[in-house]
Amino acid sequence: MEFRILVLPGDGIGPEVVQQGVRVLEKVGSRFGHSFQLSYDDVGGAAIDKYGVALRESTMEAAGGFDAVLFGAVGGPKWDDPQAKVRPEEGILGIRKGLSVFANLRPVKVLPDMVDASVVKPSVLKDVDMLVVRELTGGLYYAKPKGRRQTRRGWTSVDTMRYSQVEIERVLRVGFELARRRRGKLTSVDKANVLETSRLWRQTATDLASQYADVELEHMLVDTCAMQLVQRPSRFDVVVTENTFGDILTDEAGILAASMGLLPSASLASVPTEGGRAIGLYEPIHGSAPDIAGQGIANPIATIFSTALLMRYSLGLVEEAAVVERAVEEVLGEGYRTADIAEASAGRVIKRVSTEEMGDQVLSAL
Ligand code: IPM
Ligand code: MN
Repeated sequence: MEFRILVLPGDGIGPEVVQQGVRVLEKVGSRFGHSFQLSYDDVGGAAIDKYGVALRESTMEAAGGFDAVLFGAVGGPKWDDPQAKVRPEEGILGIRKGLSVFANLRPVKVLPDMVDASVVKPSVLKDVDMLVVRELTGGLYYAKPKGRRQTRRGWTSVDTMRYSQVEIERVLRVGFELARRRRGKLTSVDKANVLETSRLWRQTATDLASQYADVELEHMLVDTCAMQLVQRPSRFDVVVTENTFGDILTDEAGILAASMGLLPSASLASVPTEGGRAIGLYEPIHGSAPDIAGQGIANPIATIFSTALLMRYSLGLVEEAAVVERAVEEVLGEGYRTADIAEASAGRVIKRVSTEEMGDQVLSAL
């Protein structure tokens, strides 16, 4: 089969980790007889430097014609001036909105070989296997009014949290559908004791639950959820929440898995189907990590796992996706570690590797 993929490496460690993801795609192509046509474009700070905008209209116009988009990361100190007219982050926010990928799937599993590398106690990490569904195209990130202005009493700034019932229901539906295919438990996370958007969210979840008798729905306040994530994370199956809460909670969840450098994500505009062919956006959940960019030490696994999700949800390549995931697990089992996951129990032999060497190992396991 022939597939067309748009590759947007972005800034910082983005290009380094994406390069390894691309090598994995190409290896899968040669092993299984697929051809991947890759088109590259600039996004984020890289696009600001070249074109003055974080995302060109032409990029967005072309994007819809691809089978999937593989994205690295954007941002960095160079573009961080709070007074700046354009920001790298507008690049990724524009792509998410432009593709209408409202459902961001962030699976959080603790791989057996990573238990020692996590700062959390092994007993707490036992049986952790959850899927966070983060709403991705609404809420504080996008709603207007948004901005800053000078008043007689000094500067005033505003961000708006807005959600329509339609936006809430469609992402909750993704949560219910995925819970149904997993362990049948859905935790809807909100701040309904304070926020009006959360009260609509909670009511919508309760109403929708009547269509999913086989799924057990629970509501949880976001502060409680933050606590439960480190106290008893194995209690969660599918978690569904709004954009900002999901952003914060998944960084926290990354610590369970040992490193954010291991966690992939898939963003889709409909209920995801394994073996489906809907366009999706695939990105590691970590950022551009400017502090380690250019050193060749970033962990490429989050991006490699993202390519597996890309194959599974956008290319219909279910078997190939599983093969990639198994290859990564095998490499970790053999003791290969980038710096972020190098901590191991006494007596265990660890082989420290660079970004590229980790890619080499995954390729040879393939
Ligand atoms: C993420 C990132 C982005 C977000 C930033 C880079 C805009 O933190 O994907 O989690 O907040 O969504
Ligand atoms: Mn984030």
